[in-house]
Amino acid sequence: MRAIDWLKTPLWAAGIAGGTKSFLKNPLIGDPELNARGLHRNRISLAWRAAERRRAILAPRVDPDLKAAFDRDGFVILENVLPDAVFRRMVATLRSRPLPAHEMRQGQTVTRMTPVGPRVLADLPGAAAVIDDRRIRAVAQYAASTGGFPAWFLQTVIAEPNRHDPDPQTDLHADTFHPTAKLWLFLQDVGEDDGPFMYVPGSHRLTPERLEWEYRMSLTARDDPRSHHAHGSFRVRPDELAAMRLPPPRKVVVKANTLVVADTFGFHARTPSDRPTLRMELHGHLRQNPFSPWAGPGFTSLPGIARRQVDIFLGYRALKRRWLKHGGVWKDVGTVLVDSPPHV
Ligand SMILES: [Fe+2]
Repeated sequence: MRAIDWLKTPLWAAGIAGGTKSFLKNPLIGDPELNARGLHRNRISLAWRAAERRRAILAPRVDPDLKAAFDRDGFVILENVLPDAVFRRMVATLRSRPLPAHEMRQGQTVTRMTPVGPRVLADLPGAAAVIDDRRIRAVAQYAASTGGFPAWFLQTVIAEPNRHDPDPQTDLHADTFHPTAKLWLFLQDVGEDDGPFMYVPGSHRLTPERLEWEYRMSLTARDDPRSHHAHGSFRVRPDELAAMRLPPPRKVVVKANTLVVADTFGFHARTPSDRPTLRMELHGHLRQNPFSPWAGPGFTSLPGIARRQVDIFLGYRALKRRWLKHGGVWKDVGTVLVDSPPHV
């Protein structure tokens, strides 16, 4: 072991007690021998038990119909979220007003992230209403099993199937090893052939079959050629789904002004698209330390932080790029329209 590795060992050990998921970046988490002795299996079981306790605390705030749908499927669909006129005005504003954005390319797909801090929201009352909607926040918090505040931004997903590199997000996968929520308010219809979101109903539950599959994956994940899999976002094959007694994925075809909230511990993907598509969403992420007993508001709920989480994240990345010469995959593309062609 190199000297630097001795220094890093306490950090790697601390990562086990948090949300670190990469089998490549953390040699303890990736160690096949430790995983054969049950490291990954125990992390999952403990995180699941902690999430169940937090969900029990959060449950009374959740609309009972939404809770029942979530408990059954792992995702919920809310149609006609905003009054029609408010929704149309929001989309018209977005189509005419360039905003500062970042982009990332994954194979044939470009994802644009446009932050919606307080200044942007002042001109988008529809987006502000969704972000402030207590019914939506309550079901997202229940899905993520945390009392925190989601990090919201505008997301544009541009598929260019004429480029042949595959998009890794079109492989069915779990984002991580514990409950975590994502939200999408779709700003246009997303039909069968528009590369819709898909989800395996019921795959958000930690069944004995899922736990066994996770255990088997943990033994070889570190050396798996699929980069996202090796980084702890496990990819699942159709025959493995069947062995876990799970149904095939369901395409979530939606009308504009529909909101989807999903626990992305459940298996999900973007359906591959064989024609060029551009889709805009008001998108939110919500997760916390998977082992924490705390279900109340967190750091992300603080006034001044809650609505600026994405700006803070991008500012941190920019500093990292300046000082450490690496700052992740997001590239600053300046001020652009949310529905403009890709810049990366
Ligand atoms: Fe995902």
